[in-house]
Amino acid sequence: MATSVLDLDLPEVPLSDAGGDQRFIAPPALADDQWLMKGMFGYAVWRYEDATGILRDKRWHSASGKIPEIMGITDEAFLSRQGDSILSAEGEVHTRLRRLVAPAFSPRSADRLRPFMRQVINDLVDKVAATGRADFARDVCEPYPIPIICELLGAPKTDWQLFSRWANDILEIFSLDVVSKLDLIMRTQDELDEYTRGLIETRRNTPADDLLTELIAAEEAGDKLSTDELVMMVNAVIIGGTDTTRNQLGCAVALFADHPDQWKLLAEQPELAPRAVEESMRYFGAVRGTMRYASTDIVYRDVLFPAGTFIGIGLAEANRDHGVFREPAAFDITTQKSDQPQLTFGSGIHYCLGQALARAELQEALPLLAQRMPNLRLDGPTQWKPDGVGIFGPAHMPITFDPGH
Ligand code: HEM
Repeated sequence: MATSVLDLDLPEVPLSDAGGDQRFIAPPALADDQWLMKGMFGYAVWRYEDATGILRDKRWHSASGKIPEIMGITDEAFLSRQGDSILSAEGEVHTRLRRLVAPAFSPRSADRLRPFMRQVINDLVDKVAATGRADFARDVCEPYPIPIICELLGAPKTDWQLFSRWANDILEIFSLDVVSKLDLIMRTQDELDEYTRGLIETRRNTPADDLLTELIAAEEAGDKLSTDELVMMVNAVIIGGTDTTRNQLGCAVALFADHPDQWKLLAEQPELAPRAVEESMRYFGAVRGTMRYASTDIVYRDVLFPAGTFIGIGLAEANRDHGVFREPAAFDITTQKSDQPQLTFGSGIHYCLGQALARAELQEALPLLAQRMPNLRLDGPTQWKPDGVGIFGPAHMPITFDPGH
C-alpha cells in the first residue's frame, strides 16, 4: 500500500551555498536514501533517475500552462489569450503536433543554417575585436539568436529589430514581475500574430527554403497544421529559441573564462565543439529545472501523489549526479563522463524540439569565439539574471581578450 506524500515528513530543498557568485552552483549532497523533498511549489526531485523517470512518465503533465496560475495571474483576457501551446499540450494533441512539426526541426534542417550562424558570430566579434573588450552578454549573447530565428522562419533582415523587440517583450512572461507586464505581453503577442499571419500568407503564395514553408507543407495522412497552429508554433519558436540559446552561450563562456586551458584547447581543436557544448550544458545549464503536475493520482516509488500535485525537476542537480557522471564536479571537455545524456534539454515527450538548432548554434559559436577571443578573461563582476524564473544566465559580463583576431 503506497503512502500518501501528504503523510511523509520530508526535508525542504537544501539551499545552495554558492552565495552571490552563482557560476559554481554545486548542489548540496543528499543523503543516500533521500530522493524526494519539499519544494517551493509542491515537491522536488534532484536525482537523474527520478528526473528522467518523471519526465518520461506520461501521467505527469507539463506545468508550463499553469505558470500564470502559479504566479497568481487572474486576468481572464490574458489567460484565455495564452491558448494551447505545444509546451503545455499533452496526450493525442501533443503527439499529433510533434509528429507534424518534427521533420522541420531535424538536424539536417539545422545544419543548413551553420554557415549563416558562423557569419552572424563573425559579424558580432568584428565589432569588438579591435579593442579586445566587450560586455559579452550584451554584445554577443543578446543579438546572436535573433537573426538565426528570423532566417529559420524566413523573415527578412529588415525585420530583425522588430523580432528582437517582440522576443524581449514576450519573454517578460518569465520575469518575476510578470503581473505588471500583462498588457505589454498581450499587445506584443497581437502584433506578432498579425505579422506571422502575413508571413504565412506570403509563404503560401511563394514557398521558400525555410521553416515556415516546411511547416505549412507538413502533412501526414492528410492532416495539416491549421493557421492558428502555425501561429502558435512561431510563438513557441520565439519563446523557446531565443532566451535559452543566448543564456546558454553566456553560461558556457563564463565557464570557459574560468577554465582558460580548455578555451585554448577548443581554439586549437575545434572538433571538440560538440563535446564542449554537452559538457558546458551539463556543468552549467541555462535551464536549471522544469515542473510537472500529476494529471491523476500517481504512485511512484511507493509514494502516492494525489492528482494536481506539483513537482519540480532539478535538471541542473541531476546533471551533477555522482551515480551517472564520472567526476561530476569537474568541467572537462576532453572526456565523455557518461553514456547518459545531459538533461538541460529535458527528457520525455517535451524534450526540446529545437535541440538540433540550439546544438548547432552553440557548436558553431564556441570554437569561433575561442579562436577570435584568445586569452579571454572576466573584466569585472558578472551581473547574473535573477535565479528562479526558469532561464538563467548573465545580464552583463565584461570581458577582455587579446585584440585583433
Ligand atoms: C540551449 C538552448 C535551449 C535549451 C537549454 C532548451 C531547453 C528546453 C527544455 C528543458 C525543454 C523542455 C521543457 C519541459 O520539459 O518542461 C524545451 C522544450 C522546447 N524547446 Fe527548447 N531549449 C533550447 C533551445 C531551443 C530552440 C533553439 C528552440 C526553437 C527553435 C526551442 C524550442 C522548444 C520547444 C518548441 C519546446 C517544447 C517542446 C514540446 O513541448 O514538445 N528550444 N527546451
